[in-house]
Amino acid sequence: MGMANLAFAPLTSGTESHFLDSARDALHQIAVLLRNSYSHNLGNKVFEEPLEKLDETLAQLLKSEGQFRFELSEEEVFANGVRLRMEIKTLHSYKYVISELKKRDIGGISFSRPSIESLSELLEVLAKVRVAPEGGLGALNAMLTERKVSGIELLPERALAPVPEDDARAPDRRDRAVNAYQQALDFIRDSMMNLDSPAQVNLRKAKRTVQKLVDLSYEEGNGFSLAGMASIKEHDNYTFNHMVNVCVLAIAFGQRLGLRRHELAQLGLSALYHDMGKLHIPLNVLNNHTDLTEKEWAVMGNHTVFAARTLFPLIETDRSTVSRILTALQHHLRYDGSGYPKLRLLTRQSLYARITAIVDTFDAMTTKRLYQRQYLPDEALALLYKLAGGRYDPILVKAFVNCMGIYPIGSTVSLSSGELAVVVESNPNPDYIHQPKVRIVTDIHQDSAPPSLIDLAHPSQSKRHILHCVDPEKYAINSAHYVC
Ligand SMILES: [Fe+2]
Ligand SMILES: [Fe+2]
Repeated sequence: MGMANLAFAPLTSGTESHFLDSARDALHQIAVLLRNSYSHNLGNKVFEEPLEKLDETLAQLLKSEGQFRFELSEEEVFANGVRLRMEIKTLHSYKYVISELKKRDIGGISFSRPSIESLSELLEVLAKVRVAPEGGLGALNAMLTERKVSGIELLPERALAPVPEDDARAPDRRDRAVNAYQQALDFIRDSMMNLDSPAQVNLRKAKRTVQKLVDLSYEEGNGFSLAGMASIKEHDNYTFNHMVNVCVLAIAFGQRLGLRRHELAQLGLSALYHDMGKLHIPLNVLNNHTDLTEKEWAVMGNHTVFAARTLFPLIETDRSTVSRILTALQHHLRYDGSGYPKLRLLTRQSLYARITAIVDTFDAMTTKRLYQRQYLPDEALALLYKLAGGRYDPILVKAFVNCMGIYPIGSTVSLSSGELAVVVESNPNPDYIHQPKVRIVTDIHQDSAPPSLIDLAHPSQSKRHILHCVDPEKYAINSAHYVC
């Protein structure tokens, strides 16, 4: 096999990835139906669309596979015997379906050409039986037969497949990364929701959460980068996602800067909490940036002081709180001190505050929000460059661009070949910063292509180079999907 072939070898074959996508869709639709069954009567219109979608998805799956069966095993889901990888956008659906089926002692469902009526009967049975019935699975299947359901069978839990030793010790890193990200998000959501007193800042849990991300940052390579996780943007949950993204980016950046493990953990924690003061700001101010009055802007600016005040009492038991206080207090102070809050002491940003200020701006700019268009990653970096020296530490900005590449991980780019691709790994050699590894997303006709991984710095790729970043939304590309 020649070099070129190697470089083009797809990671997953097109049909397989199509199958997995449809399997995920089916699972998601089942989650929607089950969730709705708790809040609506089954005759309600809310069931129509997801039922039809499920019917369509199953029809597609059955056309190519003949049968579709998903099974649970511990916390994992298998589709026709293939493990479904977790993805951040479907993780909630997975967890929900798993817990709902487990409640009823159901280990899986097998579908072979059920009619839409049979699907709706299945839903009725599941809505009626909320806990494991006396006769177990047999009783549930008997109920289906009674209702003349055909093409659906409820299955027992899948026996644990023997896992090769290597795998058992090192479960897929990508899954662990998605899990660590989700855990950080859950943690932030939970702890920030009831943040009345500093005692409720569950430090031990926060440290554990951040430590997992730090550990992952030490395993960089193999086509994966922690920084890519930050391309996960959930528009409706901006504040929490932003805090986790800033934490992830700060750790990835800090690692490139050569910080030690314990320093990275400190930095990650400081970054995670940088905007915690926003939880004290009324929602109408927080979510409305188009016509804030001067007074409201002042309130908004106070998030730096609020955070510091909340954290202050914790110094007594944990000296390292100081770096978190400084980061929260100074992340809008600017490198030249011209920002806020105006302080008499501490007028120069600490190192962690300078790092956080950069990744904070980068994440905020590359997220679409009500009052702001989404900047493309290269535009955001260009702006950071422009403001280096005044607003941002110039040396750190340079290092950040080096760390992210001119085309940061998660950017959707147009190639000279006419294809579109997503950047998945930056080139560690600064001389080849413009030649990262990318995953091809569409072919020259802009039809979707199997996502093959290509190293643009490889000699076989000399005809392919990046022209510019493009707006992924314009092409309906979910870049996070390709990165993580
Ligand atoms: Fe902030
Ligand atoms: Fe922020």
